[in-house]
Amino acid sequence: MKFSGSHILTVDQFTREDIDTVFAVADQMRPYAERRRITRVLEGAILGNMFFEPSTRTRVSFGCAFNLLGGEVRETTEVRASAIAKGESFYDTARVLSGYSDIIVMRHQIEGSVAEFADASRKPVINGGDGANEHPSQALLDLYTIRSEMESKGKPIDNLRIALIGDLRYGRAVHSLCKLLGLFDNLYMTLISPSELALPEEYTDALRAQGHTVRISDNLHNGIQGADILYCTRTQEERFPTPEEANRYRGLFRLNQAIYTEHCEPNTVIMHPLPRDSRTEASELDNDLNDNPNLAIFRQTDNGLLIRMALFALILDVVDRVHDSARDVGWYTGPPGQLL
Ligand code: CP
Repeated sequence: MKFSGSHILTVDQFTREDIDTVFAVADQMRPYAERRRITRVLEGAILGNMFFEPSTRTRVSFGCAFNLLGGEVRETTEVRASAIAKGESFYDTARVLSGYSDIIVMRHQIEGSVAEFADASRKPVINGGDGANEHPSQALLDLYTIRSEMESKGKPIDNLRIALIGDLRYGRAVHSLCKLLGLFDNLYMTLISPSELALPEEYTDALRAQGHTVRISDNLHNGIQGADILYCTRTQEERFPTPEEANRYRGLFRLNQAIYTEHCEPNTVIMHPLPRDSRTEASELDNDLNDNPNLAIFRQTDNGLLIRMALFALILDVVDRVHDSARDVGWYTGPPGQLL
């Protein structure tokens, strides 16, 4: 794909070669993300960080990624703080905000909203999550994490055994990840969910058509056996018609250290796009896993900086100039290798 000036709306835009390009640029971002070096390559540029749905890591890491490249960030954090609450259309909002920004990241609860916004935008738009549809940057950072976790175990992404657990119906991170994984070869996917929250057929059909094995299960203990990767998800309560309906599924699949020890291979990697629901009634990824070295959830969030810096550098066409006039930082940054 042509990255320069492009919107990133869906992972359908990416080939395996494009993924390699993003990952190679992400690797180059490490000294800046680790706060060992400073680059000002985007000095003067402005990111419009438009989050019309709650977010911690996507919003903050996109903002930090832009700052780390030297740019400025302007944010809107909810619908009621924007003129959308007064009836302004996506078209008008996009025309206005793209006059104030060099690039925009947008999250909104309506599927397809970011694409509609991008149609009217005069500047590139990155989808930060549109309803239950897609979350492309999350899928890229998840895949980058899978690659890096498996590299240390001497395995490529091809031929992996991956268990997806939880709300696979509404989980946009899962939807985008399945599409990206589909580009690889000979995966063995186990989809563990209540039948009402099963992965939509369009994704299972596509995976099977691409030659992958897809097994469907509603049993956590059986489903996770033999997996290389466990990818847990939260019940996406904000997508359910009522909170009571979401409550029916909360806590059905709880992974903790005892279950991990009994049913998983010793080096099975545990992932989650976060936030994990740590309320007692959910506890989908128990805190007793926090010291398990195979828990990769905070390596995922750290990797989010690298991927989001890479997307900005590629879209704004500054990859070749990131290192120009870069310098060491002058403040205490913790022990070497502490951050990433
Ligand atoms: N993974 C993710 O999208 O997290 P946030 O909702 O905090 O952005």
